[in-house]
Amino acid sequence: MAARHKSVETKFMEERDRVLRALRNLDRRSFIKVVAATAGAVIAKGLMPPHSFQLVTIANAAPDKASAASGMNGQPPFTFAYISDTHLYERTLNQRFIRAALKAVEDVNALDPQPDFVLFGGDLAQLGTPQQLELGREILKEVKAPVKMMVGEHDWFLDLGEKWQELFGPPNYSFDWKGVHVVVLMSVHEKDFWTARRMTPEERMATVAGLDNGVQSRFEVGEPQREWLKNDLAKVSSSTPILVFSHSPLYKYYYNWNFWTDDADQVQAILRRFDKVTVIHGHTHQMLFNQIGNISFYGMLSTAWPWPYAPQGLPALTIQMNRADPFDQFDACGDGRMEVRADGLVDKIYNLWDRNPVTVKADYLRSRGKIDRPPAPQFASY
Ligand SMILES: [Fe+2]
Ligand SMILES: [Fe+2]
Repeated sequence: MAARHKSVETKFMEERDRVLRALRNLDRRSFIKVVAATAGAVIAKGLMPPHSFQLVTIANAAPDKASAASGMNGQPPFTFAYISDTHLYERTLNQRFIRAALKAVEDVNALDPQPDFVLFGGDLAQLGTPQQLELGREILKEVKAPVKMMVGEHDWFLDLGEKWQELFGPPNYSFDWKGVHVVVLMSVHEKDFWTARRMTPEERMATVAGLDNGVQSRFEVGEPQREWLKNDLAKVSSSTPILVFSHSPLYKYYYNWNFWTDDADQVQAILRRFDKVTVIHGHTHQMLFNQIGNISFYGMLSTAWPWPYAPQGLPALTIQMNRADPFDQFDACGDGRMEVRADGLVDKIYNLWDRNPVTVKADYLRSRGKIDRPPAPQFASY
C-alpha cells in the first residue's frame, strides 16, 4: 500500500540510489557520463523532486522601461547559477563529495531556461592535488552553460596556483555582461608563513586547510590586485551595476577561522563610488548576507558540507541556516542562482537541498542595512 503512494521525492531518491550503486566500478569518464544520462532519465520520468531548481517568473519578465533605463542601459534581466566549495578528493578515496558535485551539475543543467553562465565559487579540490583539480574539471565539463571559474585556498596552496592556472587560466579577470560589469577576484593570497618554518608544500596546504590553527596569515586580495582592480574600474561609470565574485567574504566576519579578508576595507573603498555593488562569495559554506554602505554581500552554499556560524561577527541581517538533520549528508548543502534585475540589483536564491529554497531580495538588504561604516574588526584570541 505504502509503495503505491510513494512521493515523487522518494521515487527520485530511489532512482538516484539505484544508479549510484551501479557506478562504483566505472572508470572516471564513464562515471560522469552515466550520471549525466541519469539526470536526463530522471527528468523524463517526471521524477524531479519538489525542491528542484526552477526559474521563477521574475527572471522571465520583460523589464519595465523606467527601471531598465535606470539600470542596465536597457538590457533585459538575466540569471546566472553557481556551484561552490565541492572539496573533491580523488575518487578512490571519497565519492561522497563527487556525488554532491554531480548533483549540483544536474541541478543547473535542469534549469529551463538555462542560466547565462555558471560561476564556480572556489575550493574545487580538498588538498589541491592535480588529480583532484582534474577530476573537478571533468565534472564541470558536464555543465551545459558556460562556466566561469574562481579559485579557493584549497585549490591554491599545494603549488601556489600552478596547476589551477594551467587548467583554468588567470585567477582574476573581468568582463561585461548585459550592462553589468563583472569582476572575479583572487581573494585568498596569504603572506609567506611557510618559508621560515621550512614547510613542505603538503604541510603548507594542510595548514591553510585547517582554518583555525593560528599559524597561517589572513587572506588578502593584495596590493598588486587592488591596483589592477582600480585600473579595471577606472573606465566604468558609477551608475553601472557592479558584480564582484570573491572566494572569501570581502569583509571582516571572524578572524580566528579566516572568515576574513584582511584588506577588505581597502577593496570596499575602491567599490564605494558605484551606486549598485553586489559581492557574491564562497568559503563560509552557509547562508550569509550583509550590507555595508553601497555593497550587498551574499555567501554561497557548499555542495560538500555546511560550516557552523562563527561565535562572533555574524552580520546582523543574516537569517541563520540551522542544520536540522546532521545524518542527512545533503542537509544545509546546495547550490543556487542569482537573478540580476532590470535595475541592476540582484535577488539571490539559495537552493538548499532537502529544504525549501530561500530567496533574499536585494531590497531587504538595501532598505534594512543602512550601515554607514564597517563593523569593528575582531582579533585573534591566541
Ligand atoms: Fe570551502
Ligand atoms: Fe575556502
